[in-house]
Amino acid sequence: MLQMRNVAKRYGATVALENVNLDVKAGEVMALLGENGAGKSTLVKILAGLEQPDSGAIAIGGKPHNIGSPAQARAAGISYVAQELSIVGTLSVAENVFLGDQTVGLLRSPSSLARRAKPFLARIGLGDIDPSLPAEAFSVAERQLMEIARLLSREARIAILDEPTAALSEVEIDRVKTAVRTLAEEGCAIIYVTHRLGEVFELSHRVTIIRNGHSFAPVATSSLQVDGLIEMMLGRRLEQMFPPRAPSVGDKLLVVEDCLCQGLSSPVSFILRKGEMLGLAGQVGSGATAILKVLAGLTPLYRGSITLDGRPFTPRVIRDSIKMGVAYCSDDRKRDGVFAVRNLVENLSAPVIDQVSRFGLMNRRAETTHTQAVAQQFNIDINGLGRLAGNLSGGNQQKVALGKWIGISPSLLIVEEPTRGVDVGARAEIYRHLRAQTARGLAILFASSDTHEVLGLADTIGTFFQGEMVQIGSADAMTAEIITRDVTHPAVAA
Ligand SMILES: Nc1ncnc2c1ncn2[C@@H]1O[C@H](COP(=O)(O)OP(=O)(O)OP(=O)(O)O)[C@@H](O)[C@H]1O
Ligand SMILES: [Mg+2]
Repeated sequence: MLQMRNVAKRYGATVALENVNLDVKAGEVMALLGENGAGKSTLVKILAGLEQPDSGAIAIGGKPHNIGSPAQARAAGISYVAQELSIVGTLSVAENVFLGDQTVGLLRSPSSLARRAKPFLARIGLGDIDPSLPAEAFSVAERQLMEIARLLSREARIAILDEPTAALSEVEIDRVKTAVRTLAEEGCAIIYVTHRLGEVFELSHRVTIIRNGHSFAPVATSSLQVDGLIEMMLGRRLEQMFPPRAPSVGDKLLVVEDCLCQGLSSPVSFILRKGEMLGLAGQVGSGATAILKVLAGLTPLYRGSITLDGRPFTPRVIRDSIKMGVAYCSDDRKRDGVFAVRNLVENLSAPVIDQVSRFGLMNRRAETTHTQAVAQQFNIDINGLGRLAGNLSGGNQQKVALGKWIGISPSLLIVEEPTRGVDVGARAEIYRHLRAQTARGLAILFASSDTHEVLGLADTIGTFFQGEMVQIGSADAMTAEIITRDVTHPAVAA
């Protein structure tokens, strides 16, 4: 169905793709894998007509094709779900489903458009929502699923999904998998980009890996093992994913007592000690991130008490919590994580702007020294510090979003989804850095929808379901089965 030959693409001095081949058959799911910055998104953007290759050839159904624009890509039967959300918040859900579809036209009556959108929404588990509501009324996860509904409405010959599940938790991921399988059964050729290796094994027929600008010949998924796959991606073995747990933890740092806030239906209590990592597991909407937002000064505390190092802690705005030595790294990287149109130096020094400036004037030398120290700790390319953060690949942006907060030497670090969209190698690296920080006494509170991440990383684990904490306890007493049960149907266990 699709052949790409000797594709090359550079951005200024950056070689994104040097010589890449890709072949996908009708009815096949081809997993496209590689480290952060390997060029996966660049390759699929070329197919979607969003980028032009410097050289190379594309054939569809055996015939050479020139894809000069997104409209030409659609005409060739290619449909694409981008890595970054492209849902327009102010348009209705139905309008979003048919966005850019010339055969439908947005001039139709809203009710007929809604009726036509329904079956596509239902196929991805959004059958119950009202398609005439504005898309902004829905969560990030639901908007991500709307993107898939749009893909389904296109009835494409070639479907491209660039990390469609990065912002989703297990229940929604299952819906995406089902939709992708159905598409393949209908004869569609599918290119599936992901960092979740579980999905690769469950979903794909073959795997194409890109490394250092070159592609490897495709390999049948059934002939692969996880370790071998990782080694092909990284070009080295990954010794350990998770660093050893803290041998001992210090004094009480954070005491949360009977706290109720937006997103919780019953109060929570817990204690976090210096040098300890507390991981909260839960699906999207479970309440696992609710208390994190209160501690960050983003949402108010309705009831209960919080103390930090023995003193009452009630931040009203983000600045309050930063002053108290509390850093917060949000899960919405695009909105809160990085300043896309600023370079890496400016991004990494933003949290310490008071320390690297005087009377409103920047001390460039202090700024550079600070940035280099942070960059070194997080393996951010020091030669690339002048690049715009928005041009970095997704995983490298995550390192910047997290690394900049370590720079303020906080006593408490709060992180939502620490490794969303981060490749396996960089993920191990981030875990190692976080653990190294706790060894120096930093306490970390994180929330994650990834069961294995919580289990592998945390010293203490709390599980959440529908606004309630199901249980909290030492990670030694937890298993993946217990966590999965708690966050999906805790009532069944009771
Ligand atoms: N508009 C751009 N300007 C400059 N450089 C860019 C631009 N877009 C991408 N790059 C660079 O091209 C390389 C490939 O990026 P790409 O986004 O394709 O990686 P990726 O494999 O999708 O990574 P990730 O897994 O993190 O999403 C990176 O070095 C990136 O910084
Ligand atoms: Mg990408």
